[in-house]
This record gives sequence, C-alpha cells and structure tokens, in this order.
Amino acid sequence: MGALAGKTALITGALGDQGRTACRRFCEEGAAVVGTDITQEGAAKFTDELVSAGFDFEFHQADLGSSTQVDALANHVRITRGHIDSVYNNAGVMMVKPIHETTDEEWQRAIRVNLTAPFLVTRAFVPLMKGRTGASICNVSSIGGIRVYPTQMHYGVTKAALLHLTKAAAYELAPDIRVNAICPGVIDTQMAWSYVDASPDPAAAMESLKSNIPLGRMGDPADVINLGVWLAGDQASYVTGAVIIVDGGSTLAAK
Ligand SMILES: NC(=O)c1ccc[n+]([C@@H]2O[C@H](COP(=O)([O-])OP(=O)(O)OC[C@H]3O[C@@H](n4cnc5c(N)ncnc54)[C@H](O)[C@@H]3O)[C@@H](O)[C@H]2O)c1
Repeated sequence: MGALAGKTALITGALGDQGRTACRRFCEEGAAVVGTDITQEGAAKFTDELVSAGFDFEFHQADLGSSTQVDALANHVRITRGHIDSVYNNAGVMMVKPIHETTDEEWQRAIRVNLTAPFLVTRAFVPLMKGRTGASICNVSSIGGIRVYPTQMHYGVTKAALLHLTKAAAYELAPDIRVNAICPGVIDTQMAWSYVDASPDPAAAMESLKSNIPLGRMGDPADVINLGVWLAGDQASYVTGAVIIVDGGSTLAAK
C-alpha cells in the first residue's frame, strides 16, 4: 500500500516541471490528486496519461492569485470530493532581475504567485481539511528565501515570507493540520535553466552553480517531491512548522 493511500491531495503548479512529478508521485503513492495550474497547455495529455495508468487524477485551470478563482476551485473540490487531506503549494514564479530594473508589475506578480496564492489556497482549503486525520500542507519555498542571491530580491523576499506563513499557519492550525516548508536548491528544471541562460556566460554560470553544490549535481524534481510525499504521509505525523532544505548541501558553503 502506498504512503498516501486513502488521501486526497491538491497540487498547485501541476503542469510545471516539479508539479508534474509531484502529481505522478502522489498518485503512485495511492493519493487521489486534484492538479491545478494557471495554464491549460498540455493538461489534457497529462491527465490522459495519469488516468490511463489507472490513477485518480483531475485537472482544473485556475489563477491562484485570484481569491475568486481559488474559492471556486475549493467549492468544486468540496462538491466533488468532499474534503482534502494534503495541499502541496508548489506554484511559483522567478525572474532574473536586478533591483533597479524590477518593474511594479514584476514585483507584484512575484508577491501574487509566490505568497498571496499559498495564503489564498490555505484559507480556502483549511475548511475542507478540518476533521480529517493526518491533514497537512506543504509550501514549496526556496533556498532563495534563506540566502541572498543577486538578481533575485523579488523572489527571495516572497520565499522568505512564505517561510513565516508556514510557521504561523503551523502554530495556528495545530493540532488538526500540519504545515511544513521545503526549500529546494538548484533543481534541474526550466526555472533553474532560465537563471543560467540569463547570465552573460551560461556555461561558466552552470559550472559556478555546480561548484557550490557539495553533492556535485543539480537536484532532480524527484529529490524534492520524495520529501513532499513523506511530509504528506503519516510517517511525518509529528512534524509541523519545519523548514527542510533539499539542496545537495549548497547552503553549507561559505561563498
Ligand atoms: N527549479 C528550481 O531550481 C527551484 C528552486 C527552488 C524553489 N523552486 C520552487 O519550486 C516550485 C516549482 O517550480 P518549478 O521548477 O516546477 O517551476 P515551473 O515554472 O516549471 O512551475 C511553476 C508552475 O506554477 C504555475 N503558475 C505560475 N503562476 C501561477 C498562478 N498565478 N496560478 C497557478 N499556477 C501558476 C506555472 O504555470 C508553472 O506550471 C516553485 O514554487 C519554485 O519557486 C524551484
């Protein structure tokens, strides 16, 4: 039996690089999964893949920065599923922008997606988790919320605030709902490559990134999601308010 058998999970940013892995892994562990993303591109094919493999998966398009759309999604899940056991707040945006070039719109978008959306999702879905045994929320933050990276202020500020949101929610929602955060390091995804590709010398930037990772490689989405699965499962039943780094050791280095 899978670690998440009998659970129903909501996964945000479901069509992104990590979101797809999360949907698949949660399904493989026995969860029924509702995936959501602002885009619909590839949603039908992805849903078909999971459903044909025998998994209980459905996709809903929603802009999670909009409280109206989040509340509509929660209402849909309440009607069709009745409850949610696990929320995986994974949707996020990152740009490469020096502070003095960051526009109002870019700043607002970072806050909207990386911070407001997890708040709106938490607010809307907590009522669907009340009374469930072993309910939990996992927020995907970043090592960028712990350390400073040039051209990443907008991102770091939102991811740092998400860590406070995690701890405040863990305290307030105990003992019914556990709330934890994962801080991935450099994960082999389009988001990480966009950072590398934006530098003047991408090959040198990649070497520099790798040289700062004691385990000597970028992370794989599965490295992050494996922890997400564990946090959503009952083996983590005494873990709440935790901020767990998955970065191959890169935040250990002095430089
Ligand atoms: N890739 C990395 O190296 C890395 C490192 C640290 C943290 N993270 C975090 O991991 C999470 C997943 O990132 P990823 O690498 O899969 O990136 P990704 O860009 O592939 O996925 C992010 C997803 O979020 C969705 N999204 C954006 N705005 C949205 C909105 N308003 N409403 C709903 N969905 C929206 C996007 O459409 C996309 O599918 C993010 O929170 C990111 O900040 C990534």
